[in-house]
Amino acid sequence: MSEGKINKTVYLKDYCPPDYQIKTVHLSFYLGEEHTRVYSKLSITRSLGKKTPLILHGEALKLLSIQLNGQLLTESAYQINSESLTLHQVPDYFILEIETKIYPQKNTTLSGLYVSEGNFCTQCEAEGFRRITYFLDCPDVMATYTTTIIGNKEKYPVLLSNGNLIDQGDKENGEHFAIWQDPFPKPSYLFALVAGKLSSIQDKFITLSRREVNLSIYVQPHNIEKCTYAMASLKRSMAWDEQVYGREYDLDNYMIVAVDDFNMGAMENKGLNIFNSKFVLANPETATDTDYQYIEGVIGHEYFHNWSGNRVTCRDWFQLSLKEGFTVFRDQQFSASQSGSVVKRIEDVNRLRTYQFREDAGPMAHPVRPESYEEINNFYTVTIYEKGAEVVRMLHTLLGETGFRKGTDLYFERHNGQAVTTDDFVKALEDANQVDFSQFRLWYSQAGTPELHVQSSYDADQQTYSLKIKQACPPTPDQPYKKPFHLPLTIGLLDSQGKDIPLQLVGENNRIKGTQTLEIKNQEETFTFENISMSPTPSLLRGFSAPVKLHFELSDKERCFLLAYDNDSFNRWEAGQQLAVKIILSLTKDYQEGNLLKVSSIFIEAIAKFLENYKTDNQSFIAQLLILPSEHYLSEFMEVIDPEALYQARTFLRKTLAHSLKDYFNTIYHQLTSEKPYSFNPQEVARRTLRNICLGYLMMLDETEIHQRCFHQFKTADNMTDSIAALSYLADTKSTERESALSIFYERWKQDSLVMDKWLSIQASAKRDDTFEIVEQLSGHSAFKLTNPNKVRALIGTFCQNNLVNFHHPSGNGYKFLGEYICKLDPLNPQIAARLVSIFSFWKRYDPKRQTLMKDQLEQISRSPNLSKDVQEITLKSLKMN
Ligand code: TRP
Ligand code: ZN
Repeated sequence: MSEGKINKTVYLKDYCPPDYQIKTVHLSFYLGEEHTRVYSKLSITRSLGKKTPLILHGEALKLLSIQLNGQLLTESAYQINSESLTLHQVPDYFILEIETKIYPQKNTTLSGLYVSEGNFCTQCEAEGFRRITYFLDCPDVMATYTTTIIGNKEKYPVLLSNGNLIDQGDKENGEHFAIWQDPFPKPSYLFALVAGKLSSIQDKFITLSRREVNLSIYVQPHNIEKCTYAMASLKRSMAWDEQVYGREYDLDNYMIVAVDDFNMGAMENKGLNIFNSKFVLANPETATDTDYQYIEGVIGHEYFHNWSGNRVTCRDWFQLSLKEGFTVFRDQQFSASQSGSVVKRIEDVNRLRTYQFREDAGPMAHPVRPESYEEINNFYTVTIYEKGAEVVRMLHTLLGETGFRKGTDLYFERHNGQAVTTDDFVKALEDANQVDFSQFRLWYSQAGTPELHVQSSYDADQQTYSLKIKQACPPTPDQPYKKPFHLPLTIGLLDSQGKDIPLQLVGENNRIKGTQTLEIKNQEETFTFENISMSPTPSLLRGFSAPVKLHFELSDKERCFLLAYDNDSFNRWEAGQQLAVKIILSLTKDYQEGNLLKVSSIFIEAIAKFLENYKTDNQSFIAQLLILPSEHYLSEFMEVIDPEALYQARTFLRKTLAHSLKDYFNTIYHQLTSEKPYSFNPQEVARRTLRNICLGYLMMLDETEIHQRCFHQFKTADNMTDSIAALSYLADTKSTERESALSIFYERWKQDSLVMDKWLSIQASAKRDDTFEIVEQLSGHSAFKLTNPNKVRALIGTFCQNNLVNFHHPSGNGYKFLGEYICKLDPLNPQIAARLVSIFSFWKRYDPKRQTLMKDQLEQISRSPNLSKDVQEITLKSLKMN
């Protein structure tokens, strides 16, 4: 490093309970236009027998004064540096009063107190509270908070913080104040404050024990019409958590605030959630079906945190998955229950296998409970969230619905009000069910994706069928060897009619109808079933019962059989995916070798069967079937990723399907046209999805008549789902309709920031040879703003992550572009800059030329002065992969 600053690594093994506890916190904020003054009064107790000095965290703060038990401290009484404030001599119990000055208007990191569109808001997770005031900013320090906010009444009519409003009123000079009190002790990362010009919608929820809770959603006044779906989702979440987990809300009010500038999706601050406006605002004209689904999922997620995260919180940040893995699992269950289809599971598995499996095989691989980190913000990962959720799902599968509920009841009861570990979570499930999960715990400590190799054999004489299962887990950066995992392998055996054969393991009496879950514990084991009168077709890993890579030889015919008959919908879909993966990978090879590309008819015929029955069959399932595996997912199967060949192969298959099944696509497109106004419900979502996918295939034919039809849909649609689908297909073309559509869209929506994000990302993902130049131009457009994470994700993120052919162009222009943006962004918002660096972290997966070009960028980034901890950690770990 040119600056010579080396990041400090934090280790789980070094964890010690804090030597000091803060019991009560009184905060006063004097909001100003140039700076804000924060006055904090803490009651602190020293743990018995501890002699260590008191070290408070603090960053980007200007200290104005400190008083200990009412005595002003002079500069010799404390030490201060860029990260902390140290007091050497303190009594066993004392009151500390600290005054600091901060600059929220200049805070582009979006961590701590900052200003978004003229309104104040906070983001304290993970370590943002220390950017507000000096504090013991760790999750195992839990205090009750009383917060006074003082600000100009006209500029900031709404003043919010956690808990209950206990007083409010006017002051001199046009100022007013509000005092909020949160009765529940909480870690500092759950603190929140909001002040500004906001309008709100209100509703009520009556809890199970008949308490009335006031619900409010606060947004900028021009967005007030867009909150109804978020509110309805909140009420459904509250009812669901009562029904499924017996969890009731605990405060008298629940507030949600939407802000435009936000690093992540949303934040579960106690009683005062702050959301990225993308996950709140919706109406049919501006939000797509997918947006609606995300809103429901994120609203649920943050609400569920009230128990899994807030009432029971994390002891330290190594336990992050305690709240995130569990809460993602809960929001997945919730969303699945609302749509009642397998599609949610398909989407979740897709995300896991595409992004988490890749992370697990790269330089940032870490266990669900990491052993170490340099910058905690870099550990809000797909491993912590999505793999963490899979681990909880496996526990749910192993214990069954009732056993799992017994376990979570005990967990919430036993640890209510505590800061605990993933181990405590597993222990509660064990104790409630008298089971032993000691081997299962390896899922928390071992990184890497286990691979299962399965071999089958049928013995016609004995009428037995055996599955031999071997497991192995590849090495990861800090863990060369792994022990075998304990995992649930859910299976079924299909007879020649496609029916599940009742299963009976040799030596066991009960015949289980259909699906059975085998518990795998050893590196190698064999399961033998008896009374199997014909050689069956096995359906393995039903519902994706464990986050593993499954290797099992099946013929194309067998896969088609499963696709047609498997009683597990997930595996039916999976059989189709496996066929498509195999076809595209072999086309990729043919493309690389300059061979003629050709697709065998078996896959096309299998798809045609579904299209024939589109009226009676589940339309959302057919839609999923028609979505070919993504280039990202496919690239994980390649020794050396060749983005160009992959793109050509996948496109060839899409075109072949379009030509062969054109009549079906045409018919379905027309038949599924509806005159009814937009409504969001599972049947309508399925109809629109399938219809738009058909249009997408038809657009592969590149015919003028279809371009016009697409343009017509774009212009006449009464909803964003149909309009954006059409626009995105047009954006890939060189048609005249493309330019008209993009400019009509721009003129119609230029005032709507979230819709403009769609306009940016559609152009950034266009599969055209001039996309790079267009993206460069757009980065200078007034619709783009470097300080807004949604804009960065929409333009830079989309181009670099979702437009693989163009980003990985052999010229290296895409890499240079990304490298420059990382360096420009890092001083403004290190969290977002670090997310972008991770795109380069997979450089080893490409050919030598691309490797060199990407590595050059990483090296250049590593040499830039004053690099943030965030970017430094990922850059150096990626370069270490030599
Ligand atoms: N806890 C948030 C969630 O529910 C995550 C989050 C929101 C976050 N904002 C953040 C994490 C900023 C780190 C930094 O998923
Ligand atoms: Zn969360």
